[in-house]
Amino acid sequence: MTILVTGATGNVGRCVITQLVDAGASVRATSRNPQSAGLPVDVRAADLEKPESFDSALEGVEKVFLFPNPAGAQGFAELAKAKGVKRIVLLSSQAAAHESYGDSPVRTVHLAVEAAVERSGIDWTFLRPGGFATNTLFWAESIKQEGLVRLPFADANVNPIHEADIAAVAVKALLEDGHVGAAYELTGPESISQRGQVSLIGAAVGREIEVVDLSVAEAKALWAQQFGGFADGKILDGMVKLYENATARAADLTTVVQEVLGRPARTFAEWATDHKADFTA
Ligand SMILES: NC(=O)c1ccc[n+]([C@@H]2O[C@H](COP(=O)([O-])OP(=O)(O)OC[C@H]3O[C@@H](n4cnc5c(N)ncnc54)[C@H](OP(=O)(O)O)[C@@H]3O)[C@@H](O)[C@H]2O)c1
Repeated sequence: MTILVTGATGNVGRCVITQLVDAGASVRATSRNPQSAGLPVDVRAADLEKPESFDSALEGVEKVFLFPNPAGAQGFAELAKAKGVKRIVLLSSQAAAHESYGDSPVRTVHLAVEAAVERSGIDWTFLRPGGFATNTLFWAESIKQEGLVRLPFADANVNPIHEADIAAVAVKALLEDGHVGAAYELTGPESISQRGQVSLIGAAVGREIEVVDLSVAEAKALWAQQFGGFADGKILDGMVKLYENATARAADLTTVVQEVLGRPARTFAEWATDHKADFTA
């Protein structure tokens, strides 16, 4: 029984590979650049935007951990069905579970991929995580170089989840029965502000880190730069609204990690300790 892990070089995919290997599973991975993937398993070249590129990688595969790519999702799901895949565990997003995200791409993209998987008729489990703790890796360079983070909406609350916890739920859903048809909304164990995250990274690295607050206009300019042409005025306004809401109230939390794994989700303080090398020059 071979399990195929797509997005295997990503934050979550790498942990899925490690945990599946540790569990003794037969694992294959895909990457667009297999030669530089640095993974301890058979890595094949494949691109989710070109579903047909999975023809050989899907040979003999029973289960798939699927990275969400809207362009190729339909084609991938159809090919997987034709190849005899029995189960897909999809990395989706908490935004797929909440109408409050409106028509923002983070919701529509993940709903589109979920729909493609559902239409295939293959058994599925959807993982719908909230904000990844790894999002704070965007701050690593300025922390290392200047000892500060330039931050819009520093008091916005998030529910950061450790990538190893998302992966642990994925591995359960791949290896155990009883998770088919579940859409798991996964969060970390605490609602914490972005400013609080900076402080905990500082505690992990043993250094005070300054927060430089950015105005809304500066935030929009920063996001436009980060997301390129993708982020038009409407999307930027939508992001401002989401951050304003997140500042006004605590982040939504679930206990699904605890229920599925039988232990609490890792805290952001634990994540910061695990990643202190990323924030140390
Ligand atoms: N960040 C958040 O807060 C958050 C919250 C909820 C959900 N999510 C979801 O999680 C995703 C990020 O997961 P992550 O952090 O584990 O990934 P990541 O570290 O950003 O890495 C991206 C992965 O996607 C793969 N990939 C990208 N385009 C691909 C394509 N066309 N074909 C095949 N593989 C492709 C890359 O593979 P190669 O480069 O090796 O080909 C790489 O493994 C987001 O895109 C979003 O859908 C994120």
